[in-house]
Amino acid sequence: MDWAEKLDNIQPFYVMEVLRRADELSTQGRDIIHLEVGEPDFATPEPILAAARKALDMDQTKYSLATGSKQLREGIARWYMSQYGVEVSPQRIVITSGSSGAFMLAFGALLNPGDRFAISDPGYPCYSNMIQLLNAEPVRIPVGPLSNYQLNAALLQPELKKGLRGALVTSPSNPTGTLISEQDFSEVTTLIENHGGLLISDEIYHGITYGQSAQTALEFSDRAVVINGFSKYFAMTGWRLGWMIVPEDALGAVEMLQQNLFISASSISQYAAMAAFECGNVFQEQLEKYNKNRVFLLDALTKSGFEIAVEPLGAFYIYADISRLLEQTGIADSRQFCNMLLDEAGVGVTPGLDFGQHRPGEHLRFSYATSFANIQDGVARISEFIEKHIK
Ligand SMILES: Cc1ncc(COP(=O)(O)O)c(C=O)c1O
Repeated sequence: MDWAEKLDNIQPFYVMEVLRRADELSTQGRDIIHLEVGEPDFATPEPILAAARKALDMDQTKYSLATGSKQLREGIARWYMSQYGVEVSPQRIVITSGSSGAFMLAFGALLNPGDRFAISDPGYPCYSNMIQLLNAEPVRIPVGPLSNYQLNAALLQPELKKGLRGALVTSPSNPTGTLISEQDFSEVTTLIENHGGLLISDEIYHGITYGQSAQTALEFSDRAVVINGFSKYFAMTGWRLGWMIVPEDALGAVEMLQQNLFISASSISQYAAMAAFECGNVFQEQLEKYNKNRVFLLDALTKSGFEIAVEPLGAFYIYADISRLLEQTGIADSRQFCNMLLDEAGVGVTPGLDFGQHRPGEHLRFSYATSFANIQDGVARISEFIEKHIK
């Protein structure tokens, strides 16, 4: 059987190669430190588990409304008021199957075949894959330290001249952990909207910031589509629950697509998530742990010769430039670096190749969403590996 030709444009994740090899090595009895995995390593807090158990006991196991449970949407609207001081009508909130489901709905509602849509490079790989699945064209805009690895108006201008259906901002970013400045965010939103385009803001790492809060696109416009979810800050990756906030005129299209593609998000997860806003300090306590890891890892990587041009102030990632280390060690590129680091030192990291086409062979992503002991052990192994290979 010949499967769809457009699949040729969609890349598998290199990190899967790392995970497969890590698994093989673990089976052989090797102890592997995982710095490649992009999910919180702490368990979903007890109040959320209790709410899920209660939902099961009460047989709350049917479809919900396509747009999601009213109670949860109201809870999310209150969250926007308490976190950002922004008033959002629960009517504009749609509960989705992870934020991934929300991206599919947003792109599906927006993009015609051939439409051009701007994303940053490096960036989260699924955006371009979904865009291509819809026969539209991802316009990858190279970003670097000068713009905090974020899009800005100057970078978007030339592409807008060629026509763009919209652009996507991710702040804090995966893989760089950097935030967009208030000025850039405001300018990008205005610019895109003045050209009749749609700004999509991926806010999945909101809440996970260090010393500075992330702003929501809703502070600049109520025409933007905001996407967020319970996976990261709330540590609920496996519950597959997200949400999107859409302009009123998009509601009909988004609801119709949701009915057709997903029917509704998981109702058990929705019941569970209602308790997420009432978990006390657990998420803040977790944030302090991430920050301790972040500070330690940043310092240790820099001392080992990794270059981190912009301090990552959000998410749980560090995106490091390894071009100098490649020269000093003779290792060919990020993929070979990852494979050797895993085989020889037992440390898994993600090659830049997973995040786009702009200098991916010269970058690695480290995730510090793990224990401090793992970070310490990982750092010791990495520095020994580098000392061994430097000529
Ligand atoms: C930037 C970004 N957006 C969206 C997602 C998707 O998350 P989920 O579908 O679990 O909400 C991820 C997952 O790693 C991510 O890194």
